[in-house]
Amino acid sequence: MKKYTDISDISNLSETIMQAISLKNNPFLYSELGKHKTLVMLFFNASLRTRLSTEKAARNLGMEVMILNVNDAWQLEFEDGTVMNTNTSEHIKEAAQVISHYADVIAVRSFPTLKDKKKDESDYVLNSFVKYASVPVINMESSTSHPLQALTDAITISELTTKRKPKVVLSWAPHPKALPQAVPNSFVEMMQLIEVDFCITHPKGYELNPEITKHSQINYNQDAALKDADFVYVKNWSSYKEYGQILSQDDSWRMTQAKLGDAKFMHCLPVRRNVVVEDAVLESNQSIVMQQANNRTFAAQVVLKQLLENLNK
Ligand code: CP
Repeated sequence: MKKYTDISDISNLSETIMQAISLKNNPFLYSELGKHKTLVMLFFNASLRTRLSTEKAARNLGMEVMILNVNDAWQLEFEDGTVMNTNTSEHIKEAAQVISHYADVIAVRSFPTLKDKKKDESDYVLNSFVKYASVPVINMESSTSHPLQALTDAITISELTTKRKPKVVLSWAPHPKALPQAVPNSFVEMMQLIEVDFCITHPKGYELNPEITKHSQINYNQDAALKDADFVYVKNWSSYKEYGQILSQDDSWRMTQAKLGDAKFMHCLPVRRNVVVEDAVLESNQSIVMQQANNRTFAAQVVLKQLLENLNK
């Protein structure tokens, strides 16, 4: 693997999922692989799981880790040819090259504005690091995608399914804040790659980017969509068409025990209790959110392992 900015960077998905499960059983097997190698993690936005699990994954492989909350550094300029006589102090061209002297791998988290669709869709922060850094880049959630979370979710479903082709439903939920489409985008892309019967359910107006959902089934009737589900992935996202808008906060879309039936409940976390999902679901044996959170380490570790193996070639 040369970079991990998108799930299409995985050359063999089923082999990668198997490697991740194997790393979970033996996390220190490759503890020399990352010796004298440094992961620099850059956070333009908050994180709990991605930050800690990716650091743990790197340390399991023997890597050094440095973390920069980018808002504590010089304000970066991303436009080419700008006269930098206002707020920005350092151009991404210098910053990415400088960081490449300290890092063997750079990981970046940068959320969308949810105001300027064109700019968000260009994923200019992540792609500028890809363009100007001289080391591999990992996407720790960009404006449009969260491939580490999607790999985690595929690992979790693979571990827990009792069927060859389980039914998986992505179900929209209400939320008081406008949230990005990154997690559902990557989840949809991943479900299109693994052996599942997949369906998306949301109120009208919350259609994701049709270039991503492609031929995935969309059912506007949540009850009908959830029928016979094995895994239900609940997530809020703001409107893609009316970009970044909250069109509905309809509480009837909240996940309840009655709606979940016998399915397993999935969520990337953090989750707003009794808004997105009722307490009883999160506290039931059907919730696998902690397995997901735990698997974040092994998704990051398998990605770092494959990047390091390529660096060591
Ligand atoms: N799921 C996830 O990416 O969590 P954090 O935002 O806490 O990293």
